[in-house]
Amino acid sequence: MIDLKDVSYSYEGINALNNINLHIEKGEAVALMGANGTGKSTLLKLMNGLLSPDQGVYRFDQEEITPKKLKNTKFSKAFHQKIGFVFQNSDTQLFCADVYDEIAFGPRQMGMNEDDVEKRVNDCLDLLGIQNFKHRQPYHLSGGEKRKVAIACVLALNPEVLVLDEPMNGLDPRTQRWLVNFLNTLNRSGKTLIISTHNLDLVQELSKRAILFDENHSIAADLPSENLFQEIDLLKKINLVDENYQHY
Ligand SMILES: Nc1ncnc2c1ncn2[C@@H]1O[C@H](COP(=O)(O)OP(=O)(O)OP(=O)(O)O)[C@@H](O)[C@H]1O
Ligand SMILES: [Mg+2]
Repeated sequence: MIDLKDVSYSYEGINALNNINLHIEKGEAVALMGANGTGKSTLLKLMNGLLSPDQGVYRFDQEEITPKKLKNTKFSKAFHQKIGFVFQNSDTQLFCADVYDEIAFGPRQMGMNEDDVEKRVNDCLDLLGIQNFKHRQPYHLSGGEKRKVAIACVLALNPEVLVLDEPMNGLDPRTQRWLVNFLNTLNRSGKTLIISTHNLDLVQELSKRAILFDENHSIAADLPSENLFQEIDLLKKINLVDENYQHY
């Protein structure tokens, strides 16, 4: 479903991704892990067509994704209907006057009629348990509340692939637990999940496969999540645990 071949990316001379080769099958749940600045967000943005590789090829459903194709409105809409992105910072994602309009934005963009939009928005509010925010201003919600709205916005398009950038950040323990269970349910229902996270404790529950970035912006390892704690030296080397870390 997702295929990257020899992909590199730099921001005006600042290297962010170095020769990435990665294949993700439909229905997988994959965690991207790495220290700050290793390129996780960059890779997720690239998968969503927000950035394009300087070198190498990105294919989604066997089709190469290029800036030229994404300029075609029809192609771009079809692509963005299949893959949804929850940003690391929800504030960059939320811009409407109220939560209802925020969640309705995507379906309206796709040309859905207002009756169907209303049903879709209500389904998403129910799914996330946020009916009570319906008429609130997204800007005034708490961080965790914003995250739920951002997830609802993405689910409103019913994408096949959900890409979430550090979704657990800043959430209290109960909300983290709720989100892990929620994401597991989505994955069981057939959604492909690609999640970046620093959270070693939750990663095994979130995904069967962990992809580890090193500080040279390359993939250091691609391994079953259940084997992560057999690789403590590697985790130390790539700065995912501190050097005194011991796993019990
Ligand atoms: N818009 C930008 N302009 C210039 N450099 C950028 C930009 N965005 C990211 N970078 C740089 O690219 C590298 C990779 O950044 P990226 O945000 O992908 O890392 P990350 O793994 O998501 O980090 P974090 O864990 O802190 O979120 C970093 O060195 C960062 O400083
Ligand atoms: Mg990031």
